[in-house]
Amino acid sequence: MSNTEDTFSPKIDGTVLIEVKNLSKHFKGLKAVDKVNFTIKAGELVGIIGPNGAGKTTLFNLLSGFLKPEKGSKILLNGKNIIGKSPYRIASMGIARTFQLVRPFKFLNALENAMVPHVPNYLTSRPSTLKNRATWSLITVDLAEKKNYPAFILPHGDLKRLDISRAMAVQPELLLLDEPFAGLSHEESFRIEHLIKESREKGMTIAIVEHKLGILMRLVDRVIVLDQGRLIGQGTPKEIANNEDVIAAYLGKEAVQYA
Ligand SMILES: Nc1ncnc2c1ncn2[C@@H]1O[C@H](COP(=O)(O)OP(=O)(O)OP(=O)(O)O)[C@@H](O)[C@H]1O
Ligand SMILES: [Mg+2]
Repeated sequence: MSNTEDTFSPKIDGTVLIEVKNLSKHFKGLKAVDKVNFTIKAGELVGIIGPNGAGKTTLFNLLSGFLKPEKGSKILLNGKNIIGKSPYRIASMGIARTFQLVRPFKFLNALENAMVPHVPNYLTSRPSTLKNRATWSLITVDLAEKKNYPAFILPHGDLKRLDISRAMAVQPELLLLDEPFAGLSHEESFRIEHLIKESREKGMTIAIVEHKLGILMRLVDRVIVLDQGRLIGQGTPKEIANNEDVIAAYLGKEAVQYA
């Protein structure tokens, strides 16, 4: 990883962390992501919104190396090209992500699930070190008392937090969260919101794809809007709520709540 737990000192100086240029991904004739350009600065908390099928998850798959973009696309992380690198290599360069659908190892318990991201770094160290790191991950998401529960019996809200803790465990410079609030109660959403705010205060740069706009619009500094693969607007939540193209494509009457 680019940072170890003890020396984690992310940049929060507003320099460009990630730069996306002319980014495209086609599935046969479908332009899932179509010539998208944006930058995210270090320390920013950015929301990515848009209708179903707009290309949000595909964008995360491109940023994290799970999909390869079309020729001519550029993704620079701290000025370095990451296109063509494996998801594992990209994670080690500083980008971690969660998935729209939670993906625990069902038959491992919460602690073992939390150990997984630490394994590459601690293969050569004592098992107790690995366990301590994983326990710490669980404490940060309030799951320590359930460490011995197998994942398949944990409720959805706990699995979402476990998933986030696993992505955060590698101390990424950029954390990509795909619908972290989906299917959660108010109370569970609040816990995740708190977790995101805490990480942000520590200086982590975070991009969140989300349909629950009530939470998202009050949480983020800036919003990027996709529609049919194209970037149709970006700005503060307030600017986005007043953007005619975004209102027409996605927000509709809901826009007034955020304007
Ligand atoms: N592996 C794939 N093969 C073919 N088409 C795909 C693939 N992945 C995504 N698509 C298509 O690309 C488009 C964008 O999908 P994507 O999952 O990125 O949308 P999204 O914005 O995340 O939507 P949602 O809000 O519903 O999660 C959709 O039309 C989808 O059907
Ligand atoms: Mg999606």
